[in-house]
Amino acid sequence: MRDPTQLPDNLSRLFSDHFDRTLDEAVVVRSPGRMNLLGEHTDYNGGFVLPIAIDRSTWVVAAPAEGQVRVWSEARGELDVFTPGQIHRDEGRLWANYVRAVAWALEEQFGPVPGADVLITGDLPLGSGVSSSASLEVGAALAFLGVAQREMPLRDVALMCQRAENQFVGVQCGIMDQFAVALCEAGHALLLDCLSLETQNVALAGDAPVFFVCDTAKERTLAASAYNQRRAECESAARHFGHESLRHVTPEQLEAGKGELPEHVYRRCRHVLSENARVHEAIAVMGCGAWERFGELLQASHASLRDDYEVSCDELNIMCELAMEHDGCLGARMVGAGFGGCAMAAVRREAVSGFAETVGAAYQPRTGLQPRLFAVQAAGGAAILPH
Ligand code: GLA
Repeated sequence: MRDPTQLPDNLSRLFSDHFDRTLDEAVVVRSPGRMNLLGEHTDYNGGFVLPIAIDRSTWVVAAPAEGQVRVWSEARGELDVFTPGQIHRDEGRLWANYVRAVAWALEEQFGPVPGADVLITGDLPLGSGVSSSASLEVGAALAFLGVAQREMPLRDVALMCQRAENQFVGVQCGIMDQFAVALCEAGHALLLDCLSLETQNVALAGDAPVFFVCDTAKERTLAASAYNQRRAECESAARHFGHESLRHVTPEQLEAGKGELPEHVYRRCRHVLSENARVHEAIAVMGCGAWERFGELLQASHASLRDDYEVSCDELNIMCELAMEHDGCLGARMVGAGFGGCAMAAVRREAVSGFAETVGAAYQPRTGLQPRLFAVQAAGGAAILPH
């Protein structure tokens, strides 16, 4: 098994290639991606989520420098340069705004960030539903804090990164991704109450299935506009029931008020309420190893996201269908915002052999897209690593 906290072989060379400096002067941060087992589109509704951090990561290397912050993204092959104390959005390059956003949020709290040379690299697929953005934000935050020799509790780092994404990048994401990236523990899922922000680590026992990320290779073009629309629909329904979030609306109240809501808004609420119930049932079935039932919950979640919340798409549906055709697959569902990106599948440990190849080979001719499927381990959250 690969140790996800082991420094990539090329990290030192990349840093010296771009900045002519050694790792001795630098802070090295590993920040994982996340995959959500259950609880989709519930975080901004004050609900429950159950993500794991995965063993694919963003690596951020940062060393103090005079004057400016210089950020090299290995994946983009681009350098971004900005000046502490004068941080603005870059309208041309979206990736650069995630690092700028975090520096901006830190400056709001502590004044100008120190100048720094920053390298970003890693093996996390970008923009496909495993939270490359939150991973980059939390990684950059820990790197800037490390360079400034400042400490901040990880949950405050997560909240600051969400604020940075909401206010500076302009994406109205919930709190799940940043919390998962910052706070998950190896071998555990993280149960997060998105209203109280209470967390609980839920152990994944040895008999747990293997989780696969199934990247559809379909770009998430509609995701941002539909996301904001779904949020607004849920908020208006909560207000209709006299609450701030759907968390306080019971299934009985929803059924009683059904006729007063537009039909599609009723279905949005039905998804959120049923998904919260599925998260709770999942915790119970995981505790007693009832993985068949866990698989059924994944199936039910996908159907609800597809039919009630309407955030799936053909590619995600096809991927989940094909995954389920495999003998060892207990359940599969779309993950993240939807309209493309990744699905996930839970596959019995003794039946994983050939899963990725078989599903991938069947998916390609149905969609014309080349998918990527890979197994993930529940890894630990973001951290500065000794080196
Ligand atoms: C995106 C957002 C999260 C969450 C999911 C849907 O990943 O960033 O906050 O809302 O969508 O569950």
